[in-house]
Amino acid sequence: MTDPAATAFDALVARRSHSRVTDEAPMQEELERLLGAMTSIADHSRLRPWRVIALRGDARHRLARGLAKATGSDLKKTIGKATRAPLVLAIVVSPRSSSKVPLWEQESVANGVAHALELLLHEAGWGCFWRTGRETRHKALRKAHELKKSEYLLGWIHVGGIPDRDRTSKPRKPLDLERHLTSL
Ligand SMILES: Cc1cc2nc3c(=O)[nH]c(=O)nc-3n(C[C@H](O)[C@H](O)[C@H](O)COP(=O)(O)O)c2cc1C
Repeated sequence: MTDPAATAFDALVARRSHSRVTDEAPMQEELERLLGAMTSIADHSRLRPWRVIALRGDARHRLARGLAKATGSDLKKTIGKATRAPLVLAIVVSPRSSSKVPLWEQESVANGVAHALELLLHEAGWGCFWRTGRETRHKALRKAHELKKSEYLLGWIHVGGIPDRDRTSKPRKPLDLERHLTSL
């Protein structure tokens, strides 16, 4: 476990992605607890237009097979990619029918869930890395994840333990606030 952050601000400043992770992973119960916090994600009309598919063990081979089909790559290579972490969380936009809330707003909610999930997982001491690719919306990958017609993927958060050597990180370059915060 990393030190628990005192505030959301501290947690956000401390968050880092980890491309290399160990074989440890959060159990289903912990995942359910963290996802339970997503009830507070800003969500127009509270449609909850998202879901997360957890892939562990051989279930990750679905992703590998989908990637191989979508990219024409060798299955051995894609198995290597899909099994870099013990837990792979596929983030799915799962649109709800609404006359008021367009698709882009619903996708924003699913994006919010993915970012918040990365933050909470990091705060809980887990290493995460959000990965996508040009083939993320390919039908072979849709099929591999058993998506419904209206659903689509935002990518995969790879989750595992943080190797000891990766526990320290350099401070980030500060924001150029003249560009990122303007007033009219
Ligand atoms: C939607 C999304 C997709 C991403 N896809 C990839 C990817 O396919 N490959 C990659 O190297 N980084 C990808 N990244 C970036 C990494 O997840 C990570 O944010 C980046 O390496 C910077 O590290 P940091 O999160 O510690 O700033 C993606 C990020 C987002 C938000």
